[in-house]
Amino acid sequence: CKFHPNMRGVITVEGVAGGVEPVTTRFEQPLVVPSTRRGADIRLVMRRAKVRTLPHGPRTSMWTYDGSYPGPTIRRRGGRGTEVTVVNRLPRGAGSMSTHLHGDHHASADDGQPTTQLIRRGDERTYDYPLMVDGRPEPGSFFWYHDHRMDRTARNNWRGLQGMFIVTDPPTPGLRLPQGRRDVPLMVSERSFTAGNQLTDPFADGPEMSGHHGDMSWTGPDAPPDDATIGDKVLVNGRYAPYLDVSATRYRLRLLNSSPFSSYNFTLSDGRPFLQIGTGSGLLPRAVVRSSVLLGPAQRADVVVDFSGATGQRVVLGSVPASSGETGDDARESAVMEFRVGAPAADASRLPSRLPSPRLVSPVPSKVTQTWTFGLEESAHHGSAWTINGRAFDPGRVDHRARLDTVERWRFRNTSDVTHYVHIHAEQWRTLLRDGRRPPPWERGLEDTWRLEPGEEVEVAARFTDYTGPFMIHCHMLDHEDHGMMARFDVAP
Ligand code: C2O
Ligand code: CU
Repeated sequence: CKFHPNMRGVITVEGVAGGVEPVTTRFEQPLVVPSTRRGADIRLVMRRAKVRTLPHGPRTSMWTYDGSYPGPTIRRRGGRGTEVTVVNRLPRGAGSMSTHLHGDHHASADDGQPTTQLIRRGDERTYDYPLMVDGRPEPGSFFWYHDHRMDRTARNNWRGLQGMFIVTDPPTPGLRLPQGRRDVPLMVSERSFTAGNQLTDPFADGPEMSGHHGDMSWTGPDAPPDDATIGDKVLVNGRYAPYLDVSATRYRLRLLNSSPFSSYNFTLSDGRPFLQIGTGSGLLPRAVVRSSVLLGPAQRADVVVDFSGATGQRVVLGSVPASSGETGDDARESAVMEFRVGAPAADASRLPSRLPSPRLVSPVPSKVTQTWTFGLEESAHHGSAWTINGRAFDPGRVDHRARLDTVERWRFRNTSDVTHYVHIHAEQWRTLLRDGRRPPPWERGLEDTWRLEPGEEVEVAARFTDYTGPFMIHCHMLDHEDHGMMARFDVAP
């Protein structure tokens, strides 16, 4: 398998999809759960640091939030306002940065805009996250923060500017999800390394930024349309092929794919199912049993895995190709991490079949108020660019105007021949239709990022509340985003 050059194999993972080449990986280092911050005032210094990624040899020099990759996990109860100050002490050459809290509902001024809110080297910026939606505390959610600077988002994320943000659930009678050490956030993200354990530089010939603060435009003169930042090693919470000792009981795993480009179709090696209880944006109306969970860049899944009966076994979380036929599916084949199952343990968790999921917007407009078409466009002076509605991103152009306190119904359409992952800032959305049909059960909660295969059409609805100003819609495959596939919508009073 081309993705696994060092097959030293002790464990074999065979995909449930069948016909999959076995992948062998040695799990040599313990999983690390990033440190947690719980205060109302959080300070994150972006700086270069050496972090342990591979099990042997030198540590890897990365750009970090506060010295670790991933950065600290922020955990806050919904409704408890949080100020995060981000300081740029990155080395010369890194340039200006912009931090976006993905999934959260906050003001345009706190959104980490790609061109107008940059944090220059030596400067800092404070982002205000009230963790409120329309007068109510935000529901329990699994967000993440990452760099969002225009043209350089893929590079800056690859170098390490990523961290997790959990909005904790309010206590709910009848519901008791696994917690404490049994609530494990897992940031899955791939990288490639040099022989000396340093990150490779897939961006050496990337497009350069023109202009300056607040005045930039996309200028990749010959940006290849099929650009793809992929790595050959899948890291979990920053470490390659880690293991976690677990008891033979239930665990809540918060899965996040923070890879720049690749998607993963997660499975467990012994065929054990995932019980999906939520998206990144809250609980689902009902838990869904799934044998595989497909997550593209920026997508999250909140799942419960029950390790009972597996004492003494090793269960591998892997990724197998997704079987979507000729659409040229992209999910990576890989072993990701290993669970070493110990003795059973007392378990007070309780999971009703109906979950207290956040309310979905209703009623919804019967007519589509905006269509976004994701495609590839040839242009005279830019070569080809990834586009939305036929145009490459221009931060100065308003592509759609929405009105505060109204419900909109948006349609996405993929006219290109590769899959995209569409992400919308500002609000959480209800998925109405996928290819004209009711969406699958795991897509019936709130969402902010959707998979869109070639030819697919998805319709979503949300109410715009609380905030006016510019926000972004873009493909979260960061190469596509950096090469034009982003648009701006403004919410007007
Ligand atoms: Cu996760 Cu516009 O980003
Ligand atoms: Cu894309």
